[in-house]
Amino acid sequence: MTQTVDLILYNAGQLCTVPAHGGGPQRGAALGDLGLIEDGAVAVHAGKIAGVGTSARVRAAYAARQQIDAGGRLVTPGLVDPHTHLIWAGDRAGEFEQRLAGATYQEIMAAGGGINRTVRATREASIDELVTAGAARLDAMLAHGTTTVEGKTGYGLVTAAELRMLDALARLDAAHVVDVVPTFLGAHAVPPEFAGRAGAYVDLLVNEMIPAVQFWQAVNRPDPLFCDVFCEAGAFDLAQTRRILEAAARAGMALKVHADEFENLGGVGLGVELGAASVDHIVETSDAEIEAVGRSNTVAVSLPATPFGLAQSKYTPARKFLAAGAALAVATDCNPGTAWCESMQLVMALATRYLRLTQAQALAAATVNAAFAIGRGERVGSLEVGKQADLVIWNVSDYRQLGYRFGVNLVRGVIKAGETVV
Ligand code: NIG
Ligand code: FE
Repeated sequence: MTQTVDLILYNAGQLCTVPAHGGGPQRGAALGDLGLIEDGAVAVHAGKIAGVGTSARVRAAYAARQQIDAGGRLVTPGLVDPHTHLIWAGDRAGEFEQRLAGATYQEIMAAGGGINRTVRATREASIDELVTAGAARLDAMLAHGTTTVEGKTGYGLVTAAELRMLDALARLDAAHVVDVVPTFLGAHAVPPEFAGRAGAYVDLLVNEMIPAVQFWQAVNRPDPLFCDVFCEAGAFDLAQTRRILEAAARAGMALKVHADEFENLGGVGLGVELGAASVDHIVETSDAEIEAVGRSNTVAVSLPATPFGLAQSKYTPARKFLAAGAALAVATDCNPGTAWCESMQLVMALATRYLRLTQAQALAAATVNAAFAIGRGERVGSLEVGKQADLVIWNVSDYRQLGYRFGVNLVRGVIKAGETVV
């Protein structure tokens, strides 16, 4: 007896299911398992995947209210972007011009620009302005195939403004097609009113902001909230990062660390020690820390658009992470300072060249592993029965075109929770 479902998408020349491995990410040398089905099909019911297989088998097993012919094209899971600074006001095009003239990111930050320039603009913006700006970025991300996005606070740096950013993220999650996973990044920079008194700002984070955010989470969100820290020279040192992350863990939050973007302060080792969900940037990470990530459940999130955006030549030593057995993911880091980039397609193109990933590894790093980096691996990132039906239909028929071509949008269509949205 055939079961009736809402939708069958069939005739995918290549259907990449990109499966989870043992209920977790694809680790080390196993990265790049695309679970490829030629002439594949997906049956979708109530927004979830009901069946996956060849077109012949799926069409024999299910009757559907709606059928979509993929026309022999490539079909993959919706892309997952596990590290963005989605919400901000203003731009930093002038600072980019200064950097082109020779100033460094850290010099601009030390002179009161950088993150704190965006903090001033964001504090002045209304929540409606923040939501509008964030929605425009989500529109661009969706058009480029991203269906789940992590978004951080971190341009408020005072309790009310940080909560406003969380509210903006929650509003976007509710109103926009793209799923938004919020992260509290109150420890993004020491705000101007605490200049030279970083310890006092950490006191505020621990004593006021984290409890307020914990309360916000309890009222607003079913999932645990992430807490992230920018562990970097000029931002928060290792001891401060530990204080903040330990307070967040006591408040029931899951942890992330921005570590080793410019200098190694030991943030990766700390993240692994504290059981962080991910360690992000990981450019200057030591061999010992890479080994520690490989032995842990912490996902290594590389952000190749950031060195590219900064015109730097050093990238995550991704092959070392894989040799150590780590779960590697990639993300845009979309932000106004270092990488204003909404496209995971460009990130895959950078990952093939500068992280030296194969196209298959880049795709798995941008889907299933990215989902595990933000605690969504059980729900999205792969085309497996029971997961949300988030799919991209590409304008190409071979997965090896992804990461190979760049600078144009290869998306033909996007299905989100079973609905055609692009
Ligand atoms: O991930 N490094 C810290 N945060 C961002 C930059 C944010 C900004 O410059 O506004 C990053 O690169
Ligand atoms: Fe970042």
